[in-house]
Order: sequence, then structure tokens, then C-alpha cells
Amino acid sequence: MSYEHTEYWIVDKNIDQERTKAQINEAGMWIKKGEVIAFPTETVYGLGANALDEQAVRKIFAAKGRPSDNPLIVHIAERQQLDQLVTDISPQAEKLIARFWPGPLTLIFKKKAAVAPSVTAGLDTVAVRMPDHPVASALLQAAGVPVAAPSANLSGKPSPTSAEHVRHDLDHKIAGIVDGGKTGVGLESTVLDCSGTVPVLYRPGGVTKEQIEAEIGPVALDLALHSAQETPMSPGMKYTHYAPAGTLWLVQDRSRIPELVARSKAEGKRVGVLTTIEHQADYQADLVKACGKRSSLATVAADLYESLRAFDHAEVEVIYAETFPAEGVGIAIMNRLEKAAAGRML
Ligand code: TXA
Ligand code: MG
Repeated sequence: MSYEHTEYWIVDKNIDQERTKAQINEAGMWIKKGEVIAFPTETVYGLGANALDEQAVRKIFAAKGRPSDNPLIVHIAERQQLDQLVTDISPQAEKLIARFWPGPLTLIFKKKAAVAPSVTAGLDTVAVRMPDHPVASALLQAAGVPVAAPSANLSGKPSPTSAEHVRHDLDHKIAGIVDGGKTGVGLESTVLDCSGTVPVLYRPGGVTKEQIEAEIGPVALDLALHSAQETPMSPGMKYTHYAPAGTLWLVQDRSRIPELVARSKAEGKRVGVLTTIEHQADYQADLVKACGKRSSLATVAADLYESLRAFDHAEVEVIYAETFPAEGVGIAIMNRLEKAAAGRML
């Protein structure tokens, strides 16, 4: 499907302004009517459609080129909407909801029949989260329905952390974009399966495993998070993801990067280096991109996808990236980098 014009609303984070209210109401009406609209959340931009409307949800898969066996996350504005969508909410899940919602934690439950079949890709479970972003909350309220939304990028590309990224990927492919500025966390939500007896972590994200365990005790890890041999429990984790157009290599010993750059230059390639502000001056390449500060991993998370997109813009053919400590949000950063690099590590 192609749209002659993709509507673009630039909204203020101060959602109490009359003009902003009117814009968000209009965008919400479009969702309710069955259209697909991109909107900001605290993690990344989402591409939303009415989760109870099968035809509307199919438009999301078409616009992104998303494989139909990869289920979507349903976004809600209020706790009570959850009961419309799922059954068997455990006491542990209730604790997590009380502690982390609204916020970057997606929980998987057994689904009810109201959820459109495409949302769950035929599974009997559904993923739900309540975003912590004033524009997202207001839009969900205005739509008045639960909203299925994957990240608003073309399938395989880095998730969008600004409306400009969404426009780059999806202009003329969707009805509209709500521009609420740059997102905060910068990486997608943590995904935790609460449909069985022991909660299982499928995707590391903004809420860390340590934070979850402090609340409800030990959770299991999807084995595929640590071994390329295992098939991931979460369908989306098996696809190539977040990949820049150039070939990305993760370099554990960063002192090797200058020599690797020199070798690729000698082969006539355009070369990029992904680093942080602390080490920026140590390298020379066609693009040296500082992604936040190593001393604050949250700033690295916030800038990661924008940095990966910048390499595409600079048309580099090979990228050497520093690695990060696998602790706290560093686990989510390394998970995304390993996928973007398709496991290429030096
Ligand atoms: O932060 C986020 O989560 C963003 C914003 C827009 O909310 N959304 C997002 O959606 O990252 P998406 O579609 O890019 O990732 C959803 C992940 C996929 O890996 C998918 O396979 C998994 O959640 N998922 C969804 N429903 C599932 C289910 N019922 N069982 C297992 N995995 C599921
Ligand atoms: Mg995605």
C-alpha cells in the first residue's frame, strides 16, 4: 500500500496545549478508524494500529516488510485495559506491573480472543506494555483502543529514535507520523514471558534483569540470548536486526582498531569507527562516531541506533565498534550490537 502523503504532526511534549491536544486527538482517531500511525515512546518510535482490528494490524506488517510469524507488542494506557486482552495474571506479574508500569517492560500473558490474530502471529500468548511517554499515553487515550505497535523501522533496520528516522524508512508507506522529538531510553523494552510458571527473559532492555529479580526473585534466561545454536523463544529475536548497510565488526581489544582501519583503508574501503566520547580522539577514519559516554551506559543506549544509522548516511562499507561491559543496560547494548554485527567479533 502506498500513500500519496504521510501526515506529519509535530507535537509538544506539553500535551496540555490546545493545539497539541487537537493534533493527538486527530492521530488517535485515525488509529481508531483502522489507519497505521507512528508515534514516540520512551524507548523507540512505534508503528501503531488498533490491536482489535485484523485489517488494520495487517497494514503494519505490509508497511515494515515484517515477517508474518513475528508477533507485535500491544500498548495500553491504563491497567484495566489489560483484562480485556489477557488471562491468568500471576501475583508476580502484578508486582512487576505495580513497580515498572508505565515503563520499558513488556510482559507476555495468555491471550484472550479479542486480540486480532495477526498481532500474536498465531501464538496463544500476547505481549503487552504501558509506555511511559506523555505523547504515547495521550495518543492511546485518544485512540480509546489497545494499540499493536512494533518499532517503526523497515524490518531489519535499526529502530527509530527520532521521527526523522521513521520518515526515512516509512514515508508514503503509512498514514501518519506523530513527531514528539527524540526518544529517551533509545533501546526497545525488556520482554519477559509471564505465561508459564517461571518468568523467562526473552529480550534484555531498559528494565534490567537485576531490577526484575530484586522485585520477584530469579527469572530464567532464554538460552538463545547466549548461544547462536539455540532457536530463540521469541520469534523476533531470530531475525537479522538493527543492521547498518556496512559490515559491522565488534572489536574486544580496542587497541587493535587503528590497525584494522588501516588495513581496510588499504583495501580501498570507506571505514567507520563506533566509539564513545572518551575515546573519540584516538581514531581516524571516514566516520568516527561517538555514541554517548562510556562512563554512563544509558547515554550509549540513547545514541546507539542513531549512530548505526549515521554510518549508512556516510556510506561506509566496514565499521569497527568498541564493545561494552555486559552489566546493567550494557547487556541490552551488547545484545543489539551482536545482532547488528551478526555475531562478527574480533
Ligand atoms: O520498546 C519497545 O518494545 C518498542 C516500542 C515501540 O514499544 N516495540 C518493539 O516492538 O520493540 P518489536 O516488534 O520491534 O519487538 C517485539 C518483540 C519481538 O522480538 C517479538 O518477537 C516479541 O517482542 N514478541 C511479541 N509477542 C510475543 C509473544 N507472544 N511471544 C514471544 N515473543 C513475542
Ligand atoms: Mg523491532
